[in-house]
Amino acid sequence: MARVLLLLVLAASLVAAASSKRLPVLAPITKDAATSLYTIPFHDGASLVLDIAGPLVWSTCHGGQPPAEIPCSSPTCLLANAYPAPGCPAPSCGSDRHHKPCTAFPSNPVTGACAAGSLFHARLVANTTDGNNPVSKVTVGVLAACAPRKLLASLPRGSTGVAGLAGSGLALPAQVASAQKLANKFLLCLPTGGAGVAILGGGPLPWPQFTQSGMDYTPLVTKEGTPAHYVSGRSIRVEDTRVPVPERALATGGVMLSTRLPYALLRRDVYRPLVDAFTKALAAQPANGAPVARAVKPVAPFKLCYDSKTLGNNPGGYWVPNVLLALDGGGECAMTGKNSMLDVKPGTACVAFVEMKGVEAGDGRAPAVILGGAQMEDFVLDFDMEKRLGFLRLPHFTGCSNFNFTPSA
Ligand SMILES: *[C@@H]1O[C@H](CO)[C@@H](O)[C@H](O)[C@H]1NC(C)=O
Repeated sequence: MARVLLLLVLAASLVAAASSKRLPVLAPITKDAATSLYTIPFHDGASLVLDIAGPLVWSTCHGGQPPAEIPCSSPTCLLANAYPAPGCPAPSCGSDRHHKPCTAFPSNPVTGACAAGSLFHARLVANTTDGNNPVSKVTVGVLAACAPRKLLASLPRGSTGVAGLAGSGLALPAQVASAQKLANKFLLCLPTGGAGVAILGGGPLPWPQFTQSGMDYTPLVTKEGTPAHYVSGRSIRVEDTRVPVPERALATGGVMLSTRLPYALLRRDVYRPLVDAFTKALAAQPANGAPVARAVKPVAPFKLCYDSKTLGNNPGGYWVPNVLLALDGGGECAMTGKNSMLDVKPGTACVAFVEMKGVEAGDGRAPAVILGGAQMEDFVLDFDMEKRLGFLRLPHFTGCSNFNFTPSA
């Protein structure tokens, strides 16, 4: 009798353990050729643009979705308005604070436009994953801000809104974590072509043959007034030569991650010595057998462009000097030609580093470096919102598009 009871208790606890082990949520990432923005499927053929620095999920809504009855004075409404975008109205509940519904101000990461919108219950239809393959379909309820169609200007065709991936309470990773009882973590592998991968909620890292021992980690730094992800830089090298940026320049203002532009923006005190070192190293390459790169008329906003036929190719993209950004924690983010050059038109490739406008050299209110899409592609980025960012460059023979989106069984 006692044994039967024990077995029953054991069986019950095993069932409980199995159902409480929730799997993270997988979404394939597509790069839009026209805009160089990245999208994930949302539901019913609609997709959302990934905005790594965005604080909200927003989408057009057609009255079909249930409105979320969230009062203006509620904690959720405070979360929705915790990071007003520059130039957008400051939220206010007015005198009737208890009865007024919550208004959020979704903003377009590309144009900077924003609009007032209420919150509604949307759903993200995706698959769970064991880290290697999709496992089963999952529908995750998320709170999204309702945006007018005009807020979609400059976003990829077919997208209906934006999925913010910042470190805020109503960004997609935090919402998936709380709805699915998962860790507030997400993994991103942005593709150069083909389908990249987003995994929300932690779990085993994909590509274990590389990620199990090869990840470097750097602390995530939070900055007052912004939900964007920042890390702190120590130094930059071009090949073996240290770029003479002023001491602490990279720590002052930090290194911000952004998906709104395909290229990097650098503050003047970092930009000028870096492009100087880069062009010198490029000019020295023919001594090692590289072809002589021929400069051509620059295409705005770039200042350094080359006839792409005169740039050699190697497995890491165009044969240009490697740029290595050393981060706090000891790891180095190694950018090859894939990350430092962009094809801007047929026959012309430009250096994907652009000087920030309207910012003084050394001004710590601006980031020292804003890494863009090209700089992050083919890196596994493992965000642990509480503390750190893991990063690993996938080997050139593979890349982010190598994830297995077809189920194994
Ligand atoms: C989920 O996985 C199935 C089977 O692999 C696939 O057909 C479907 O497109 C996936 N759904 C999403 C949203 O990724």
